[in-house]
Amino acid sequence: MTATLSARVYRPTPANLSRLARVLAEGGLVAAPTETVYGLAADALNARACRAIFRAKGRPANDPLIVHVDSLAQAADIAELNDAARAVAKAFWPGPLTLVLPKKPGVPAIVTSGLDSVAVRMPAHRLFRALIRRSGCPLAAPSANPFGYVSPTTAAHVRAGLGSRIGHILDGGPSEIGVESTILDLRNPKHPALLRPGAISREALETVLKRRVSAYRRKAPESEAAPAPGMLERHYSPRTPLTLVSKLTRADLGRIAPDEAILFLKKPAGKIGASIFWLTSDGSLEEAAHRLFDVLRQLDDGRWRKIHAELIPGRAALAMAVNDRLARAAAKR
Ligand code: TXA
Ligand code: MG
Repeated sequence: MTATLSARVYRPTPANLSRLARVLAEGGLVAAPTETVYGLAADALNARACRAIFRAKGRPANDPLIVHVDSLAQAADIAELNDAARAVAKAFWPGPLTLVLPKKPGVPAIVTSGLDSVAVRMPAHRLFRALIRRSGCPLAAPSANPFGYVSPTTAAHVRAGLGSRIGHILDGGPSEIGVESTILDLRNPKHPALLRPGAISREALETVLKRRVSAYRRKAPESEAAPAPGMLERHYSPRTPLTLVSKLTRADLGRIAPDEAILFLKKPAGKIGASIFWLTSDGSLEEAAHRLFDVLRQLDDGRWRKIHAELIPGRAALAMAVNDRLARAAAKR
């Protein structure tokens, strides 16, 4: 039995925005673009609506959601904004930065997985902001993919993954940045910590906060307590097994079987076989992040037995963000 794709894809006309805002205000789900990836949105103050997000994604209840807001005042209704939060919000909002802060009482437990903290972000995408404004709701929204699979950066990606489980997808074209927001833990403003690398760098945050931000570690050492909820090792995964290599040369290519694909950062010079893929034509990190999830989906179409992916050199924010997603895609089940 094949599932029917019941989702309707909407163009971003004013009439459609009003209609989708009404769906949200009435407790429904809408997938919509942000500048990072597409999100599956619901009224963050409606526990029933938020439970439907977890059901649609097949997401475990211990993986909390990010609440998206349209103003600092709305953020202050959701979370306790300390001075550090106000400073980074002023510097980076609207934009790809999520803050983990002590939560305000009105936020349903389902949104935060029962934690006393909440993740908040003011996205930069005009359509997502329009949905928040027109619905009058802060919007809880995880990435709009089935749990554990590659995040979506187009309406077509959302439809391919969730088309039989949700009714409404707003098409705003491809997400510009292409990897999820940087997550900064500011529960204790004296000890800020990076929980997920994204387009905004740790160094940029340190400059604004005027203090050290502890670095992101993909995997907590065994000796430590369980990592933060949702910081799951395996994530963003294509079905095709993926292995990481730090640098591939032409000479390595001969050793790779014909049914194995190779993902380079930069398009290699010379003759290019069907099994050669690349993230950028010129090595631009912006382009690499922007295309990453789409290329991973192309590589996952069943033609390849294995994917060899090259890590991006350097410590720039987007290099670390892309490498993090590749490493998680490569993690064993
Ligand atoms: O760019 C993004 O952040 C996208 C767009 C849609 O805004 N959203 C996104 O959501 O990536 P999601 O659900 O795929 O990832 C959010 C992660 C969770 O997996 C969890 O690790 C973390 O945010 N998170 C949420 N609330 C938290 C909390 N109270 N404490 C620690 N981590 C939290
Ligand atoms: Mg996600």
